[in-house]
Amino acid sequence: MHIFVGLHSWCVPDKLFLPSAIFMVNIQRLLFSFLSSNLPTQVPLHPEHASVPAKSVAIVGAGSAGLAMLKTLLDLEQFTHGGWKAVLFDERESVGGIWLPDQNDVSPPAIPQTPLYPRLRTNTPVPSMTYPEFPFPPGTPLYPSHEHIEAYHLRYAKRYNLLDSIRFKHRIHKATWQGSPDEGQWDITVSGEDGQLQIERFDHLVVATGNNHIPHIPVWQGQDEWLEKVPVNRTRTIIHSVYYRKPEAFSNQTVLVVGNGPSGRDAAQQILGIAEKVYYSFRHAGEEVAGVIVKPEISHFTEEGLIFVDGTKLDPDVVILGTGYEMLKPFLTEGGVLDVDLLARDNSTIYRGLVTNARYIFPLYRHILSLDPKYPTNALAFIGLPSAIANCPSDYAQSLFAAHAIVNPSILPQRHVLLQELALQEERVRAAGLHPYLNGHKMLNGTSSDYQDELIEFLKEKNAIPDEGKRYVEQWRRDIFTYQYMKRGWARIEKLGIGADWTRGVETEAEWADVMRRVNEWQKRWETENDIEFKVDYELAG
Ligand SMILES: Cc1cc2nc3c(=O)[nH]c(=O)nc-3n(C[C@H](O)[C@H](O)[C@H](O)COP(=O)(O)OP(=O)(O)OC[C@H]3O[C@@H](n4cnc5c(N)ncnc54)[C@H](O)[C@@H]3O)c2cc1C
Ligand SMILES: *[C@@H]1O[C@H](CO)[C@@H](O)[C@H](O)[C@H]1NC(C)=O
Ligand SMILES: *[C@@H]1O[C@H](CO)[C@@H](O)[C@H](O)[C@H]1NC(C)=O
Ligand SMILES: *[C@@H]1O[C@H](CO)[C@@H](O)[C@H](O)[C@H]1NC(C)=O
Ligand SMILES: *[C@@H]1O[C@H](CO)[C@@H](O)[C@H](O)[C@H]1NC(C)=O
Repeated sequence: MHIFVGLHSWCVPDKLFLPSAIFMVNIQRLLFSFLSSNLPTQVPLHPEHASVPAKSVAIVGAGSAGLAMLKTLLDLEQFTHGGWKAVLFDERESVGGIWLPDQNDVSPPAIPQTPLYPRLRTNTPVPSMTYPEFPFPPGTPLYPSHEHIEAYHLRYAKRYNLLDSIRFKHRIHKATWQGSPDEGQWDITVSGEDGQLQIERFDHLVVATGNNHIPHIPVWQGQDEWLEKVPVNRTRTIIHSVYYRKPEAFSNQTVLVVGNGPSGRDAAQQILGIAEKVYYSFRHAGEEVAGVIVKPEISHFTEEGLIFVDGTKLDPDVVILGTGYEMLKPFLTEGGVLDVDLLARDNSTIYRGLVTNARYIFPLYRHILSLDPKYPTNALAFIGLPSAIANCPSDYAQSLFAAHAIVNPSILPQRHVLLQELALQEERVRAAGLHPYLNGHKMLNGTSSDYQDELIEFLKEKNAIPDEGKRYVEQWRRDIFTYQYMKRGWARIEKLGIGADWTRGVETEAEWADVMRRVNEWQKRWETENDIEFKVDYELAG
């Protein structure tokens, strides 16, 4: 058996991530002070005596991450009674982020609002995708179609009265810091439905704009010549999976799918049987993938076709790039807050400011708080950067952390201490044999639950939240990682048409946990009794 477990990342396949053409250095940033600063001086030492004057918080993004942030803020006394205010902006018309379908048909260079396609289903079991104590309703399939996730987010927003604090159809274009290392405000340039740009001021900024929006598009030598020399009665196209919608668009075509991430795998699987032929190029070629013809990585293109690294050739009609996304935040870069340096591979810039190399934003404390010395350590937060983690629970833990850091900055050690911790975190990534600046915010295997627990333990130690004597990530959430039969079990249940028998009346987290455990057991028994061995689990391998 070479199966591994059911929760995986939605991430960029490593090797495919070649630096692309943009390379920017903001000279102004280089002139800024090399000195790190301390927290605002007026901050009281004891959390219980904290009396920061009423402040405002802007959140950008109404997906899983932004909703969690808004909820955790609105739960705080400062916001219910203390005059603090939070505003969440999203350019779309409702909540849900990538789970909210896009009505427009968009083609390059425009980028669709979401990579969502009609046949998208979750690749992780849905009880793992929940905010704490807010399970999916009875009857939800264990791996449901996207509509269920969209509806879940709207239900959450309604249940916690979030909608009144959200400004839909508002796009953020730019954010700039106006102030000193100790105090100041964000000037946020926003446009509403009328398209007029306006500047609004906020004390704190929380970025929850998602990681699956800006496609990473590798460029191979010779591809332009290949695209230009189209033979008679043929087509030649290269598209990124962010544009993928319906498999029918590929009927009778020869398709090459590139990339071993979930986008590529899902597209390859859906196109199979519709396309004339499906080839699948990925890094660990050699694994068998049912039905598709596996190829190694692309070396380059010629006018006749493309050449794989093993020297074999192919002249497909379409190349679909499941090559992942770039960790860019254009409105921060626009405002001089986030430099883009695609070649950055070390911490030499951390005393100057915030940088992204399109995979990693640094320096960030615990993947959340910006340690740029130009503003206080709680002025700019990111929610939802980590991958290889169950999003909603992690977003919620991060949000609690950021929310308490915002209302009570005295819980945070000084910047130089936070930077030391960051260096240790990067050291742990190196110790795992990975490059921290390429691995980015992807959780190391087996650490995603601990990461969330540590955020919450930190808050307990500072008396920011009560200690109820239990871990944040409950045991049932951890157990899911060991349920290697569950996904196949659920597929068999659906084939038998008995899904409803398993999920009818299932309401609480404990009941959902029990369903997952039983589906896993049920499938394990069946596979054992029937002597079935899965050499490579195409669905699960991630
Ligand atoms: C195709 C696909 C399938 C996935 N399947 C799964 C799965 O099965 N299981 C799983 O756990 N995860 C899955 N994921 C990961 C998924 O991205 C997360 O689960 C989660 O929904 C991400 O939420 P988010 O809030 O971080 O970002 P998003 O959902 O991307 O939300 C960001 C929001 O920010 C808004 N925004 C961005 N920029 C601006 C701006 N400048 N101004 C105003 N608004 C802005 C956007 O409109 C959007 O609404 C999948 C991802 C993709 C792409
Ligand atoms: C191209 O298609 C047209 C119309 O279908 C056909 O008449 C012609 O023979 C084709 N040419 C080639 C080179 O296949
Ligand atoms: C695909 O090919 C089959 C058989 O050659 C043909 O019947 C069918 O019409 C084609 N479909 C499209 C969409 O071109
Ligand atoms: C920068 O990274 C190196 C490891 O490459 C580490 O030893 C050092 O402590 C880091 N510096 C800071 C200030 O974090
Ligand atoms: C993750 O770690 C577990 C043990 O903790 C191990 O069995 C598994 O093979 C690892 N998976 C990967 C992808 O490294």
